Amino acid sequence: MKPTALSRYLIEAQHQGHINADLRLLLEVVARACKTISSAVGKGALGDVLGDAGSGNVQGEAQKKLDVLSNEILLEANEWGGHLAGLASEEMEHAHAIPSSYPRGNYLLLFDPLDGSSNIDVNVSVGTIFSVLRCPDGVTEPRDEHFLQPGSAQVCAGYTVYGPSTILVLTFGRGTHMFTLDREQGSFILTRSDVQVPEDTREFAINMSNQRFWQAPMQAYIRDLLAGKTGPRGKDFNMRWIASMVSEVHRILTRGGIFMYPTDNKDPSKAGRLRLMYEANPMGFILEQAGGACSTGRGRMLDVMPEGLHQRIPVFLGSRNEVAEAERYHLNHDHGSA
Ligand code: F6P
Repeated sequence: MKPTALSRYLIEAQHQGHINADLRLLLEVVARACKTISSAVGKGALGDVLGDAGSGNVQGEAQKKLDVLSNEILLEANEWGGHLAGLASEEMEHAHAIPSSYPRGNYLLLFDPLDGSSNIDVNVSVGTIFSVLRCPDGVTEPRDEHFLQPGSAQVCAGYTVYGPSTILVLTFGRGTHMFTLDREQGSFILTRSDVQVPEDTREFAINMSNQRFWQAPMQAYIRDLLAGKTGPRGKDFNMRWIASMVSEVHRILTRGGIFMYPTDNKDPSKAGRLRLMYEANPMGFILEQAGGACSTGRGRMLDVMPEGLHQRIPVFLGSRNEVAEAERYHLNHDHGSA
């Protein structure tokens, strides 16, 4: 059978009534921007894109040159097409309404332009994450508060991982699908449709250096995983930590696993490290559509009502039964039974 290019896949989805013309255009534009970012990432030292930009983002983190460049690429590509009412980026303090000089559409786009960017300079995979919401009825100048919708309201979510190959992973609520970039042809080709995450796993991902800062149920859960075959879980677990969420999620979509970034008391002003709107919600939608799960440790991620555009949240995602197990430790602790 002839390979299916993303453009054809999206046109067929539109003909079948699964997406409308504006959402198709939006996805084409995001995919095109990701190709440009992929090419910049791939140039590495030859493209003068490595190293710090000399600026900080809204979270006070040092920005890499590629963070800034990826943000500009996504902004520029999406401003003028007429499919968006506004956009928000992890790298920008406030939402950006589409200037009135351009046509406006009905969607809101949120993105983390380059997730895992501490990995750029060491040539380890990074990625772009995005999420699409509907602009509330009657709103023509979307502001921050119009983006504060639960993850269950997402129309579409995806990420592109810039690894040995560049892969775009997408869901618009009808399964999770993977498209690999054919660098010679310049197009994304469908390489896995209806991805299914194994329900059980023997692999977990966590930054163990934070162990002493975790809450009691987290300590207990990891202690039992590490105890292996002779412990309460009765099986040995393997551990991985890439420090690039996109790559961890991609591994989990491929062979299962659980990824965790729990809340800790290292910095009491932060409820976790990862951002609800740019990381947890889109990955949660992608995982659920692949039969996996995404939780705060105490409930479904996609049910959380956001309070701020840059809100942080504890994240547990991956194989369904293992996420449920991690939740059980937290809920038992909260109810005084552990
Ligand atoms: O900011 C997000 C992120 O870079 C994720 O991609 C990654 O999972 C995590 O932070 C890495 O955290 P740490 O620096 O604690 O290993």
